Amino acid sequence: MMKQDLILILDLGSEENVRLARSIRTLGVYSEIYPHDISRPEIEAMPNLRGIIVNGGKNNVVDGQPITVEPWLFSLDIPLLLVDYPCTGCIDAGNAKDSAASYRQADSLPADDRDLAALLSPFIFEDCKAEANWNMPNFIADQIALIRQQVGDKQVLLALSGGVDSSVVAALLIKAIGKQLHCVHVNHGLMRKGESEQVVEVFRQQLEANLVYVDASDRFLGKLSGVADPEEKRKIIGSEFIRLFEEEAAKLGKMDFLAQGTIYPDIAESGTKTAKVVKSHHNVGGLPEDMKFQLVEPIKFLFKDEVRACGLELGLPETMVYRQPFPGPGLGVRCLGAITADRLHSLREADAILREEFAAAGLDRQVWQYFTVVPNFKSVGMKDGARTFEYPVILRAVNTVDAMTAEVPQIDWALLQKITNRILAEVPGVNRVLYDLSPKPPATIEWE
Ligand code: XMP
Repeated sequence: MMKQDLILILDLGSEENVRLARSIRTLGVYSEIYPHDISRPEIEAMPNLRGIIVNGGKNNVVDGQPITVEPWLFSLDIPLLLVDYPCTGCIDAGNAKDSAASYRQADSLPADDRDLAALLSPFIFEDCKAEANWNMPNFIADQIALIRQQVGDKQVLLALSGGVDSSVVAALLIKAIGKQLHCVHVNHGLMRKGESEQVVEVFRQQLEANLVYVDASDRFLGKLSGVADPEEKRKIIGSEFIRLFEEEAAKLGKMDFLAQGTIYPDIAESGTKTAKVVKSHHNVGGLPEDMKFQLVEPIKFLFKDEVRACGLELGLPETMVYRQPFPGPGLGVRCLGAITADRLHSLREADAILREEFAAAGLDRQVWQYFTVVPNFKSVGMKDGARTFEYPVILRAVNTVDAMTAEVPQIDWALLQKITNRILAEVPGVNRVLYDLSPKPPATIEWE
């Protein structure tokens, strides 16, 4: 028995679907977006479905042909809201089965959020008789039931990076299936200070998960030795990561399912069948061809803020749940050019100081991403009356909504001085600290 009611949005290509879903959730009712050609058995397998919104709009035409929904939709006993969707034919089809569903129509979605809520409320609460029962405890309870139903007594594999999404999926699966979940954490030697240790502490010690921890630092640094080209570095880190993960998975024996921390923006950005492709994402469609698993993706309908709320509800530490975005290649693309052990060490220590001071100043939840970079050139300095020739550390901090453009926040001068002084005093091999003032574009957020 599901705890949450569900309103389904059918995706006919409108860019407003995400806003629509969020607006329904703001009214306290859970909503999901599905492709327009969802099958009848799929819909009939949703015990908590209360209503369906067919959202037409301007992208509802591909190659001159309108995208339409199946006529049988109108013969289901489920209330419909048709937005900007001509439905003459479909009502006939519904009537042909003599049980036409109740439906409402709207010309368009109001641009104003309050007007949108006013349009949705009577449909959701009067026509559909849905209850405002969308909250994290209910979501978690429903997902646990669904995971158990999907997995049965089979085994599930998860690549646990320690990022927000994979951590929340792990915590959810541990609650649902305990030791049937097998987590693999690969430390590629390019993690930030203390990150892999935290993954082991939280998942192995506190949550008692099955966790394979692989310290592959030497193997990665060996493969990267002398490689200066950023894209080549990325390729090596990516393919070596997959290879190691496969090796470890093979040692675990037969795994039936692969769990993934796919979240809603990943799917939206990669393009559903009807939405245009914005960019391909490593979580979606990036699996090796020969890895034939069924997927378990329990948070694929959550937005980032909801994923964090889910993580907190599951008892994950705030430092994990509010972790800033961190690129897959990790510190590898912040230790510029060919990576060396000494520069990587300076980079990691300087990054830890920056993170510590930003957290102490309350900036860790205000600034979207902040990190250090160590370039592969030196400059002249002075120490104890003698000339030095050492590396600089570059501080980078940005605010952005979608990472496509970014602005540099005005950081308090005294804080920048404190960070500078600490790095110069505590980090070996460094004699200068710089603050990167460049917005994106023309710069990118990362330096490589
Ligand atoms: P740029 O440097 O392109 O970065 O402005 C935009 C965002 O993407 C992150 N980034 C990556 N993430 N693999 C990732 O998973 C990568 O190779 C990669 N390169 C950049 C970057 O940290 C920023 O948040």
